[in-house]
Amino acid sequence: NNSDEGYENQKIQDLSKDKKKDEGQFLTTNNGVRVNDDQNSLKAGQRGPTLMEDFHFREKMMHFDHERIPERVVHARGAGAHGYFETYESMSDYTAANFLQTPQERTPVFVRFSTVVGSKGSSDLARDARGFAVKFYTKEGNYDLVGNNIPVFFIQDAMKFPDLVHAIKPEPDHGMPQASAAHDTFWDFISLMPESMHMIMWVMSDRAIPRSFSMMEGFGVHTFKFVNQEGKSHFVKFHWKPKLGVHGVTWDEAQKISGNDPDFLRRDLWEAIEMGNFPTYELGVQMVAEEDEHNFNFDLLDPTKIIPEELVPVKLIGKLVLNKNPSNFFSETEQVAFHPGHLVPGIDFSNDPLLQGRLFSYLDTQLIRLGGPNFHEIPINRPIAPVHNNHSDGYMRQSINEGKSSYQPNQTGRGCPFQAAVHDGGFSHQPERLEGEKTKVRSSSFFDHYSQAKMFYDSQSKVEKKHIKEALAFELGKVEKTSIKSRLLVHLQKINESLAEDLSKTLGVEIPKNLEEPLNQSIPENAD
Ligand code: HEM
Repeated sequence: NNSDEGYENQKIQDLSKDKKKDEGQFLTTNNGVRVNDDQNSLKAGQRGPTLMEDFHFREKMMHFDHERIPERVVHARGAGAHGYFETYESMSDYTAANFLQTPQERTPVFVRFSTVVGSKGSSDLARDARGFAVKFYTKEGNYDLVGNNIPVFFIQDAMKFPDLVHAIKPEPDHGMPQASAAHDTFWDFISLMPESMHMIMWVMSDRAIPRSFSMMEGFGVHTFKFVNQEGKSHFVKFHWKPKLGVHGVTWDEAQKISGNDPDFLRRDLWEAIEMGNFPTYELGVQMVAEEDEHNFNFDLLDPTKIIPEELVPVKLIGKLVLNKNPSNFFSETEQVAFHPGHLVPGIDFSNDPLLQGRLFSYLDTQLIRLGGPNFHEIPINRPIAPVHNNHSDGYMRQSINEGKSSYQPNQTGRGCPFQAAVHDGGFSHQPERLEGEKTKVRSSSFFDHYSQAKMFYDSQSKVEKKHIKEALAFELGKVEKTSIKSRLLVHLQKINESLAEDLSKTLGVEIPKNLEEPLNQSIPENAD
């Protein structure tokens, strides 16, 4: 039942405070002064220069000149929608998260789907991962599940993210993006980064060109933690399962659609919602008790590995329904700020080194993308939960905090009462015993780069395998440097012998026999 009857989306109500209807109104300046002539500037005589004193002209031009903000450094192209999340059953055994306690309870959400690499004006149907970011406006504050449509990632450590993105974005000299002419930088990086092989298999598969945003899965990728009231935790992987099933288009279809309608996916999303065909997904979790952490032949902290569903089944715990388009693309879809660090009590991080680095990156980038420290006050970002703290001032501050104290502890003002800097009932990081030497080394299973890549390839049907081969042939066919192609073939050989041999023939490149070990392949002596 996706009916909205009797359900009032609190976030939509909250946004309505800021909505404006200008139709049929007398045109005014920003100061509310009515304007008679908005088409002709004030001049000294009919053929003379424009006068500085034309304040309306100056204001109109000044505002226009500053309409653009930087696009996201990645995931620049996106489409958003409002909706709700509905819990199926109480998850209190596993998590204290308030929005997962009461069956049928609905929580407002805003979702943004995106491509990763292309700029804001690029095509929807590029071969790429897709972002699947969900902001839950819970009663206990905003919770962001900032995921992708592929369950693993290219790299294992956030330190490598700037390199990955530099390699994948348009080349620095001519600024041309991938898939036009040669694109050696991305494949050069990949050929030297064996940990990317699992993700590469997914990106070369049909998963990387979805037919519709409503026909793709979403994944939290990292392992997170659910923590219940008693403080007991489970490791958790998040999944979104589309009710319409998973469908992609072929590369040939993608190229033709991109030429005809680069907005294909965002138009599809918009029209589906307008027609009442609300995109619907179920939220699934794979949970692993804390004590079972080491029962696998891979590390739960390694974002290049999945937990096979045969080992830990996915439990469906709720559904997401997207039933309202944004009113304004810039105000909502562009200004929304997701952050994997936006947690609510009952959900916590794992020590995945990719996730840990993301926790720094998002706030940092949004500080400049959204123009200062007060972007949490932008309507789409502000929680429906009340906000009380001593953060003050700064560019574009909207709240008018009353009272004299903006410090803690205090006897009169905001925050906790007298002296109590710490009190119960809020978020607390799950205590975790840590010991060991400072090190840059990860555990040895992080160096198994091929088992799961192979598992994914082997799981594909005949036609899907053909698509992967064709995608690799197309992509590597664009690479100019032979050593990049041959190094790639060595990796692919470890995933599937005949895949590598067929590609070797198609590309006219030999598979080298005694290639020096690519980087990152040997396990350091001191790894566990
Ligand atoms: C967006 C950094 C890995 C999903 C972004 C943005 C940055 C970033 C800087 C732009 C945010 C903004 O301007 O608002 C990183 C770093 C990563 C990483 C440093 C690794 C160390 C991942 C992974 C996923 C992911 C593994 C998926 C699980 C997303 C999504 C967005 C995004 C969905 C777009 C959010 C939106 O729609 O506004 N990332 N990212 N990222 N990232 Fe990541």
